[in-house]
Amino acid sequence: MNSGKYIAFEGLEGCGKSTHVKRLATRLDAVMTREPGGTVVGSMLRNILVDPANTNLSPRAEALMMAADRAQHIAELVSPSLAAGRHVVSDRSVYSSLAYQGYGREQDLGELKKLNDWALNGVWPELVIYIEVPTELLLERLKKRELDRFERENREFFVRVAAGFLQMATEDPTRWLVIDGTPPKDELENVISAAVQERLGI
Ligand code: TMP
Repeated sequence: MNSGKYIAFEGLEGCGKSTHVKRLATRLDAVMTREPGGTVVGSMLRNILVDPANTNLSPRAEALMMAADRAQHIAELVSPSLAAGRHVVSDRSVYSSLAYQGYGREQDLGELKKLNDWALNGVWPELVIYIEVPTELLLERLKKRELDRFERENREFFVRVAAGFLQMATEDPTRWLVIDGTPPKDELENVISAAVQERLGI
């Protein structure tokens, strides 16, 4: 079957992943998308999820809304694109839920994996590119922005999320690629291109 490849970028806010999502999607002529918010319904859920006015969202409601966004994203966009032979490059994926709702909010990882596997109908990203930038540097960068609901979390939250990402990468090295996000953009683009070529042959 002429199936496309499902590639996700992961990393903390401000790590520069959106730039590389665009660049890789352009090089591969891939469908470029994101979670949360890759569909019309997903954009509505995203607005709720990032709105700092929602100060009392329960961790389970947050996890379910992320999973609902993901279920719609897979059904409406990702799976049909892959089946049509298109590659898909996504800014975030199910692994953000394991990192933020699991390690960050300290929800049970086993339960989150089951919930999300169901939401995904078993379609997990084949390659996860993690852009690693020191957490302290990212927290400095955040000071310059208007912050969304997640960005208002404390330092310890982001330290747990970053540690979670790295732990998942260590446990599943054939799926994950950890890239040092500190070099200049063009240099990073070349590193990512070469790694994708080597891993997936595209
Ligand atoms: P963004 O960084 O791509 O704008 O994503 C919005 C926020 O949503 C970001 O702080 C990470 C968070 N997030 C989760 O907490 N769980 C998820 O499953 C996803 C996809 C994102």
